[in-house]
Amino acid sequence: MNADEWKRQAARRAVEMVNSGMRLGLGTGSTAAHFVDLLAERVHQGLDVIAVPTSEATRAQAERLGIPLTTLDETPRLDLTVDGADEIDAELRLIKGGGGALLREKIVAAASDRLVVIADKSKVVARLGRFPLPIEVVRFGLASTQLHIIEQAKDAGCFGRIVQRMERDGSPFVTDNSNFILDCAFDEIEEPEILADALGVIPGVVEHGLFLGLADLAILGGEGGVEELWPPEDELF
Ligand code: A5P
Repeated sequence: MNADEWKRQAARRAVEMVNSGMRLGLGTGSTAAHFVDLLAERVHQGLDVIAVPTSEATRAQAERLGIPLTTLDETPRLDLTVDGADEIDAELRLIKGGGGALLREKIVAAASDRLVVIADKSKVVARLGRFPLPIEVVRFGLASTQLHIIEQAKDAGCFGRIVQRMERDGSPFVTDNSNFILDCAFDEIEEPEILADALGVIPGVVEHGLFLGLADLAILGGEGGVEELWPPEDELF
């Protein structure tokens, strides 16, 4: 099996958790796309759900596959969100935003009773930070905001190169919310909570990719089959 098949394994296990009547959040990325795909199969078999997508890409996929969609304005509370992650630590703290959808992903996750993360096992790390932390920023004052991020990160013990995410053609990457992304190569984030608090107070920072205390379960596909990772001393279901 390859990484893509492991992602699908994890997605398949997550789809089994969906029951008729549920209000769902649909994540973004290659693993979440497997979930949307498999969910659509169950919808065609009669599963009755409504879903909020976390990106325009996921919206397009879900629409194409016939999954009934809603918005957080119509449906402000969700039962379950299933999403991927770029890194997962043993406490189920996450780095997300590799696909640039972190803002909507975090809003949808926060609106959900449960966030289930699906990934292949390579996403599990001893310490967050090897994957560059994405930070969504408004366009106005970009250079000033970047300086603030450098200073605040330093106070939180994090150093490293910060680069604006670009498209292949050299133009800036623009999020679904018309903002920019700064990718912060901190390498090791010793205290994610301290960094998250520090970033959260910077004017111009819309949201960062640290998802702390949001995930209830991680389903991990990989060699040897699917494994579940639960937060320490926590019970979900
Ligand atoms: C999207 O913005 C991200 O948060 C994704 O959830 C994350 O990048 C995982 O993507 P893959 O499933 O493609 O690895």
